[in-house]
Amino acid sequence: MKKLVLALLTLLGISPLKAAEIPADTVLYATPESVNEFRDAAFGIFIHWGIYSIFGQGEWYLNYGPQREEYAKAASAFYPANFNAAQWVKSFKDAGAKYITITTRHHDGFSMFHTEYSPYNIVDATPFGRDIIKELADECEKQGMRLHFYYSHVDWMRDDYPMGRTGHDNGKKPENADWPQYYRFMNNQLTELLTKYGKVGAIWFDGKWDHDEDTIPFNWQLEQQYNMIHRLQPDCLVANNHHEDVYPGEDIQIFERDLPGENTAGYSEQAISSLPLETCQTMNGMWGYKIVDKNYKSVPVLIKMLVEAAGRGGNLLLNVGPQPDGSIPADALERLSAIGDWLKIYGETVYSTRRGDFPPQAWGTSTRKGNKLYVHVFDTANPVIYLPLTAKIKKARTFPDADAVKFTKMSSGGYCLEIGKCPNVIDYVVELETE
Ligand code: GLC
Repeated sequence: MKKLVLALLTLLGISPLKAAEIPADTVLYATPESVNEFRDAAFGIFIHWGIYSIFGQGEWYLNYGPQREEYAKAASAFYPANFNAAQWVKSFKDAGAKYITITTRHHDGFSMFHTEYSPYNIVDATPFGRDIIKELADECEKQGMRLHFYYSHVDWMRDDYPMGRTGHDNGKKPENADWPQYYRFMNNQLTELLTKYGKVGAIWFDGKWDHDEDTIPFNWQLEQQYNMIHRLQPDCLVANNHHEDVYPGEDIQIFERDLPGENTAGYSEQAISSLPLETCQTMNGMWGYKIVDKNYKSVPVLIKMLVEAAGRGGNLLLNVGPQPDGSIPADALERLSAIGDWLKIYGETVYSTRRGDFPPQAWGTSTRKGNKLYVHVFDTANPVIYLPLTAKIKKARTFPDADAVKFTKMSSGGYCLEIGKCPNVIDYVVELETE
């Protein structure tokens, strides 16, 4: 009888299974609504902040020298007097970002949130004593910003994390490795993050590569962990910066320091999946605050990166590394505000768009929204550009001024667009209406 009722309900399109009743081995995914929201967002801000910022040498500092006991002393000096979650969120919102991804715990093992599973956390181990993740979560909720949590699979501090190819010689005791215990610890922390901080947009994992040289393949037990996340928050996306093809249960695909399809940094050999894509990129050269790194990318370069990512069907997750006092470096703020000004005018050609109709061209790229194809010309040296386009153009006009642009259908296929002598802009946009 029960079976019959189940079958009837299924026939009627009513799912009788509650989350708890879904068979344990079913691979769960985030809801289509949250996946679409992510695709539409186009632009996010990555924040690498931890006690490592005190040393001003990036987030990998512990890996390069200090003994862990010495390093851990930084916690007792962590007092970011100028941290102001409201200001952070406002700056990122003004920059046009739709979400923030923040390091809740990086490879140095320090938890930037109040966890009951380790005293090595921002509330219990620093004189500051404030849960900055909670403050940020509340402020994001207030200002309508989605919050994602970066979470490291690697821990250079804890003995129970089985050491991989990074983080050696800092006083850790690898003989005390205990994967089941460490896995439980991570899942307990993830449960805290997913039950005490409101709606979480994504859990963004990093560090799986730490065991990619093991002779016996390391079992990270990702599926159970991903399922746990999806059960706790069905809207929460799962991402993993493992540089490999996507795994079951992942909702978005990450590319580190490269646009999807490029591999200049050497981390992106993976095949491009049909999942929403995200390129994470530093604004200077390092993720965490690095005092000597003034090598900031220019505003035009950053804007092009954002548009090029969109043209390839991806979001840009642009990093800032806050200073030890909790403020964002002025160089970063300047650039963010310029990106925001640009997006106020051109946002329509980037947000809620999908990849363009053809691969990136020497002159630029394209993004699509419904029957509109936005042609983004970065290199305007040539007054006529060729579009390898199969869709039929009905109208072509400049964006945002809406001046008519001449186009010619080529007998060999595609179109020529007469952009003429263009003004000197970062991205000259032509809006096409296609059939
Ligand atoms: C790399 C680095 C890490 C950084 C991440 C961001 O995996 O190890 O420090 O957080 O990239 O994409």
